[in-house]
Amino acid sequence: MPFSEEFLQELSERNPIEEVVGEYVALTKRSGQNLFGLCPFHSEKTPSFSVSPSKQIYHCFGCGKGGGVINFIMDIERLSFPEAVEFLARRANMQIPEDSYDPNRGRRERLLKLNREAARFFYEQLSTPAGAAAIEYMQKRRISKRIATNFGLGYAPDEWECLSNEMKSRGYSERDLTDAGLAKHGKRGGIYDAFRGRLMFPVIDMRGNVVAFSGRVLGEGEPKYMNSTDTPVFSKSHNLFGLNLAKKSKSGYIILVEGNIDVVSLHQAGFDSAVASLGTSLTSEQANLLSRVTKQVVICYDADSAGVKAAQRAIPLLEKVGLGVRVVTVPEGKDPDEFIKVRGAEAFRALIEDSSSGVEYQLESAARGLDLESDAGKVAYLQNAAEVLSKMPDPVSREVYAMRVASQCSVRVEAVRDAIKQVSSRRVRREKRAFERENTRPERNMQPVGSKIRFENPASARAEMGLINLLYQSPEFFRHEGIPAPEDFSSPELGHIYSAMLELNRAGLETGAAELSSKLSGDEMSIFTSIIQEPVSLSNAERALDDYIGKINGSSRPREDEDLRSVAEQLKKTKGYGG
Ligand code: UTP
Ligand code: MN
Repeated sequence: MPFSEEFLQELSERNPIEEVVGEYVALTKRSGQNLFGLCPFHSEKTPSFSVSPSKQIYHCFGCGKGGGVINFIMDIERLSFPEAVEFLARRANMQIPEDSYDPNRGRRERLLKLNREAARFFYEQLSTPAGAAAIEYMQKRRISKRIATNFGLGYAPDEWECLSNEMKSRGYSERDLTDAGLAKHGKRGGIYDAFRGRLMFPVIDMRGNVVAFSGRVLGEGEPKYMNSTDTPVFSKSHNLFGLNLAKKSKSGYIILVEGNIDVVSLHQAGFDSAVASLGTSLTSEQANLLSRVTKQVVICYDADSAGVKAAQRAIPLLEKVGLGVRVVTVPEGKDPDEFIKVRGAEAFRALIEDSSSGVEYQLESAARGLDLESDAGKVAYLQNAAEVLSKMPDPVSREVYAMRVASQCSVRVEAVRDAIKQVSSRRVRREKRAFERENTRPERNMQPVGSKIRFENPASARAEMGLINLLYQSPEFFRHEGIPAPEDFSSPELGHIYSAMLELNRAGLETGAAELSSKLSGDEMSIFTSIIQEPVSLSNAERALDDYIGKINGSSRPREDEDLRSVAEQLKKTKGYGG
């Protein structure tokens, strides 16, 4: 049985949204009753993320995400609905009713168990004759036995059904194996092992679950690395390789590198806080994860142009979640693993100690290729530098760096300040124009922000949304004569929201975010909150209601159809057919 609405309501009451969100986002009171902050779900400089304590919802005007407190936890902690409920129950010291269960929990647990057994299996292959090749490869890469065991490295034999057959004999199905990303469907039916002839790196999450694998060919070959596909227990953008070990480090910082081998090699050399994103550029979710375990990140990407770009993208993401950022540039175009092998751990430690702050690094990149002795070079550098400094949130550090840039270009600091001001106001103008463009096109504006849902019939959708908002604010209108059936709605999503509200109202329950959150999808919740955050004038409510009903019925299907439907409705009611 799913959670009862009463339970969800109590859960939400004992986890006030402003309190829960406040643990992730710095909120300040601004307009009216709402609190505002920087949206944790998209990157922005001015707050468009709002929390309404009175409605117990959050809504972002920028990306369109929204919902109740349970949806917020689902989004930010990447949990399923039942997991988020569990999370909040724990937070509020509440007991979860006995008879409610997570239909997906069993599935997730099974896949995690399979992953764990697979990791064990890969590890055991190292002591078989086939595994000798992997042992030899690790020796060549100078990975010690001890560190290999710490990371749980293993070997996937170069055969088509080695793992699959073993796991099937232990009772796992083909579906289990493909769902876990460990096997793939063959062209002529059946399945085959996804990882073959590879050195296997298990990816372990913060809770200690084996959630995925990364496999490297022994020697040359394409692709060099293969990572598990996203599965019910793994999302590439929400995990970091090595974080399970690095989170225990006492070093006070996390070292962010590009490669798995770099991570292993750094840990071996005594840098026990190295992690790598799994072959993708750093995501905001990964930055969030890092902010849970450290205050300081040292980026140590490859010195090639891809690495520089990746570092420049990562810096603002990390700063946004409040992390201090430093950047190490490994000389001679080496990656950390190669550097340590040639120059040793102490040389690497010196690099970390000399690392520059995020701003310094960005200023260095801004000067790259320019001749600061020439006037043209100075002007170009001043422009680039102003661009960097204009994004610094802290005015004091901004001033410190402005002085540095001024002395580098031998100009007065006022000139730098002016350049920063110009860049900032240009950006504000640009953002404002973009905002106005978005919001002055009525039919564009009608469409839900940030979701794939599109309204086919904007005029009717507008009335449908108006009705939903009105009913939310004044539930007594649910009893109003002639209110439409959900099927009369032109938009299936709005119809679904409406029917969930009807259902709750008929059961004598409220139609708030807490109650709806178990019935609606994330996209639907976002639409719902974007609707109900609009203020409603209740002085003309009756008139508005009739107007909405007229518009919705006017654009619904022909009369004849409706008669048929009402006959069907009648049958359903009297004979108990259907639903
Ligand atoms: P690199 O090619 O820089 O690898 O990729 P590396 O770590 O230095 O590898 P070694 O030293 O040759 O073993 C960096 C990371 O990018 C991802 C992997 O996570 C790798 O560790 N990657 C790379 C892939 O996902 N697929 C690839 O084909 C290559
Ligand atoms: Mn390497």
